[in-house]
Amino acid sequence: MANLLTVFVVMGVIVSGFRMGLGADGLDMNYYLFSCPFVESVVKDIVNRALEDDPTLAAALLRMHFHDCFIQGCDGSILIDSTRGNTAEKDSPANLSLRGYEIIDDIKEELERQCPGVVSCADILALAARDAVFFAGGPVYDIPKGRKDGTRSKIEDTVNLPSPNFNASDLIKMFGQHGFSAQEMVALSGAHTLGVARCSSFKNRLPKKDPTLNSVFAKTLSQTCSAGDNAEQPFDETRNDFDNLYFDALVSGDGVLTSDQTLFVSPKTRNFVNSYAQNQALFFLDFQEAMVKMSLLDVKEGSKGQVRDNCRKIN
Ligand code: HEM
Ligand SMILES: *[C@@H]1O[C@H](CO)[C@@H](O)[C@H](O)[C@H]1NC(C)=O
Ligand SMILES: *[C@@H]1O[C@H](CO)[C@@H](O)[C@H](O)[C@H]1NC(C)=O
Repeated sequence: MANLLTVFVVMGVIVSGFRMGLGADGLDMNYYLFSCPFVESVVKDIVNRALEDDPTLAAALLRMHFHDCFIQGCDGSILIDSTRGNTAEKDSPANLSLRGYEIIDDIKEELERQCPGVVSCADILALAARDAVFFAGGPVYDIPKGRKDGTRSKIEDTVNLPSPNFNASDLIKMFGQHGFSAQEMVALSGAHTLGVARCSSFKNRLPKKDPTLNSVFAKTLSQTCSAGDNAEQPFDETRNDFDNLYFDALVSGDGVLTSDQTLFVSPKTRNFVNSYAQNQALFFLDFQEAMVKMSLLDVKEGSKGQVRDNCRKIN
């Protein structure tokens, strides 16, 4: 009986695998089942190795995926290098401290060895961000695969990124344009449980120009900025741990960016902040659902894109 069940399950997987293999355009959890069966473990191993060396890169990978998806959809365009005739997204001032491109290159190189021309850079980035969240102690979840890589990366498109000076209404509006609710926007902002902001991203709040900034925390931020524009301020007490302390910080008035603190200041979003601060499991659940949704923003399927040979260059 158990054997028969196994046979049915295996047949089911094979049938859905063939359906994908026959050129269906859609994304699928098993997209690479036959074409690159070890893709998930290759990505995970290389991400884990890189993060064991430098755990701060988890934040970098997560942020890179967000920027990729918010500019022209999750199409790997953030990975493209500028050329003589084109200034790419990554060279916008909004790229600020984007890092970790080498990890994506390493993964791509290994996958090209195992299954040449099959796995898109957009999928690699989506998987790497997912694995980085888990490495840092966050939730584990499956994402559909089959994104294709885009062929456009222009500095001017980065106006579609939210500004750290945005208030809750601005944020709700911009995320709403991508189909996210206010609650999903707050859950996604919880990504700031990882990483840092540099002084240049919040110094306009100082010394006490931003009324939402409490005077004790203003001193902390000023102290950080005394080391210069590139000085780093962690968003919460545990910059390499994916937890809900970011929301605790907001409740205490210790949000680093205006766009962080506004989530607690505004009655439109305060209740979400409170519930995530009180319930980490709820934050993890909402975060993973919103991340899957973000990873599907305007994806290019089938013939609408390409699989880049090199993530930094359009074929
Ligand atoms: C809600 C609107 C958002 C705004 C205004 C915003 C803005 C920023 C800014 C200004 C920084 C600091 C950059 C620097 O000074 O170097 C930053 C860092 C970061 N952001 Fe966001 N962000 C937002 C949402 C998101 C989302 C949705 C994600 C991911 C799902 C994300 C992930 C990150 C991460 C992980 C870092 C730390 C990067 C590092 O330490 O290397 N952010 N963000
Ligand atoms: C980000 O953009 C600046 C120009 O604004 C550029 O000098 C820098 O190299 C870019 N950073 C990355 C990691 O591409
Ligand atoms: C939010 O900022 C916008 C400008 O970006 C402004 O028009 C609006 O009044 C602000 N809303 C609140 C509630 O402060």
